Amino acid sequence: MSKSLRVAPSLLSSDFSRLGEEIQAVEKAGADWIHIDVMDGHFVPDLTLGPPVVKKLRPVTKLPFDVHLMISHPENFIESFAQAGADYLTIHVEAVSKPLEIIKSIKSLNMKPGISLRPSTSVEALKPFLPAVDLVLVMTVEPGKGGQAFLNNQADKVRQLREMVKSLSPSPLIAVDGGITEKTAKQVALADVLVSGSFIFKSSDYALAISQLRNSVTQRESTNPV
Ligand code: DX5
Ligand code: ZN
Repeated sequence: MSKSLRVAPSLLSSDFSRLGEEIQAVEKAGADWIHIDVMDGHFVPDLTLGPPVVKKLRPVTKLPFDVHLMISHPENFIESFAQAGADYLTIHVEAVSKPLEIIKSIKSLNMKPGISLRPSTSVEALKPFLPAVDLVLVMTVEPGKGGQAFLNNQADKVRQLREMVKSLSPSPLIAVDGGITEKTAKQVALADVLVSGSFIFKSSDYALAISQLRNSVTQRESTNPV
């Protein structure tokens, strides 16, 4: 079964004083998911937002909330994010010693678990967890900030992961996050989900930016075996 491409605007580059309006604007512009970056000042240097903000935003849209936890000890926040209405909850493999336990607890609270990796981490580190997750998030920048340049040397991870998941049923979605523009998206055309912050939110026309991302990977259908 073919998996269609999802575009997930990352709120990190949106106007934080108008989060609800920004979500509605990208929904109207054709977004499939809303990507929410959670930072703790420890796993990454910056701080962003947490469950109370996600909970307030939940009634604003029906689109899935794709929550990317760039935090140490994510196990302490699983329940709060479930109550806040997260749909996908992604942890970093580098942040935890027992990823499988946390993945199970995310599932037990009816969310879809995801696993992510820093640019310096090899895809091999994810291998044991691929059958247990719904999403693999490939970082194509160092996590922690929006607006960074796409790291070309990370694109091959998408091809490697596509190969690794092809025998799995169901197989997790493959997402890419960091420096995704209409140009760089072509390098990761085998991904199922394009997370994009500044390219969308710094654009004066969100619908145009989203359609440019979709169009830049049109060759996907013919190359993607899924
Ligand atoms: C970076 C975040 C990304 C970020 C992407 O740590 O995980 O989601 O918002 O922003 P851009 O698309 O501007 O690189
Ligand atoms: Zn992110």
